[in-house]
Amino acid sequence: MSTRSVLVTGGAGYVGSVVIEELQARGYEVLAFDSMHAGHRAAVPPGVPLVVGDLTDPESLKAVFEARRFDAVMHMAGYTLVAESVADPGKYFFNNLGGGLNLLEAMRRHGVSCMVFSSSAGVYGEPDSVPIDEDAPCRPVNPYGQSKMMIEQMLDWYAHAYGLRFASLRYFNAAGATTRFGEDHRPESHIIPIVLQVALGKREQIPVFGLDYDTPDGSCVRDYAHVSDLAQAHVLALRRLEEGAAGVFNLGNGEGYSVLEVIECARRVTGHPIPVVPASRRPGDPAKLVATSKRAREALGWRPRYPELEAIVRSAWDWHQRHPDGYQE
Ligand code: UFG
Repeated sequence: MSTRSVLVTGGAGYVGSVVIEELQARGYEVLAFDSMHAGHRAAVPPGVPLVVGDLTDPESLKAVFEARRFDAVMHMAGYTLVAESVADPGKYFFNNLGGGLNLLEAMRRHGVSCMVFSSSAGVYGEPDSVPIDEDAPCRPVNPYGQSKMMIEQMLDWYAHAYGLRFASLRYFNAAGATTRFGEDHRPESHIIPIVLQVALGKREQIPVFGLDYDTPDGSCVRDYAHVSDLAQAHVLALRRLEEGAAGVFNLGNGEGYSVLEVIECARRVTGHPIPVVPASRRPGDPAKLVATSKRAREALGWRPRYPELEAIVRSAWDWHQRHPDGYQE
């Protein structure tokens, strides 16, 4: 089987835009589906149809599946803010789980049996040790991570009962930009775009959420992966699904950087002093998340092109300088 037609949920979002760019470059036919809750029309490449709809509404999904035949679905839609999920878990379970289930049911009814799912390092919670491999226990510490874990569990049962073939890609921290597409969340909560907004003079300073973690400098440690490397992994996973293989894959570079190190790196890249202000811990933040992505390298042939933080931050800086107001929508 050769996959040609792909439905991308969350296709107008940050990772979605870059994954679609990669799919298009490789000749796939793509349809983007997005609620536009966090998406931008300008983030969908020209020539790619965008259907605005909500996964929690089975009718809008039905219309999409009846209008067109898909070989596979890339499911990237979902709410993604850790702290918000702690404050309002109902919103996260209703949207992420309810929407995910509606999508799986629509796929089943229409005979679509391949899914690449955007999962998260958030499924691991506080790991016993880093780097984390895919066999580490999943003990999420926030409803966002829990919702991703529960969808992964649904995928397992759908595979068992209905023959769904899936790849769950557990992103660590997606970051960076391509020439055309970058990160623009409203409100922005992610560290790299916020730091760059300081360098652009749009914010005074960056709050550091917690300096009392059990890490070398007291700030949280994360593993940053370039968004176009994530996109490459999606296409590789899709090809593996054509051969029938499925599974769970971490996507990270195996190198942890503290919040203070990210800020220092952004100072080097931008030449701006980027003042910091200590702030209290953000609810739901694990101290350290660093991946081993050996499985993705070996089983998918994943070869990140931008493994260094500096190259990641530089690509984001290039995009933010060219788009100081983001997508301006
Ligand atoms: N941070 C700050 N100040 C800020 C913003 C962030 O100190 O103004 C810190 C956070 O507390 C965290 C680190 O920078 O320690 C990275 O925060 P991000 O918000 O950029 O990213 P997260 O690690 O919270 O989120 C990522 C993904 C989620 C995933 C999560 C797993 O975006 O999808 O990792 O915990 F679930």
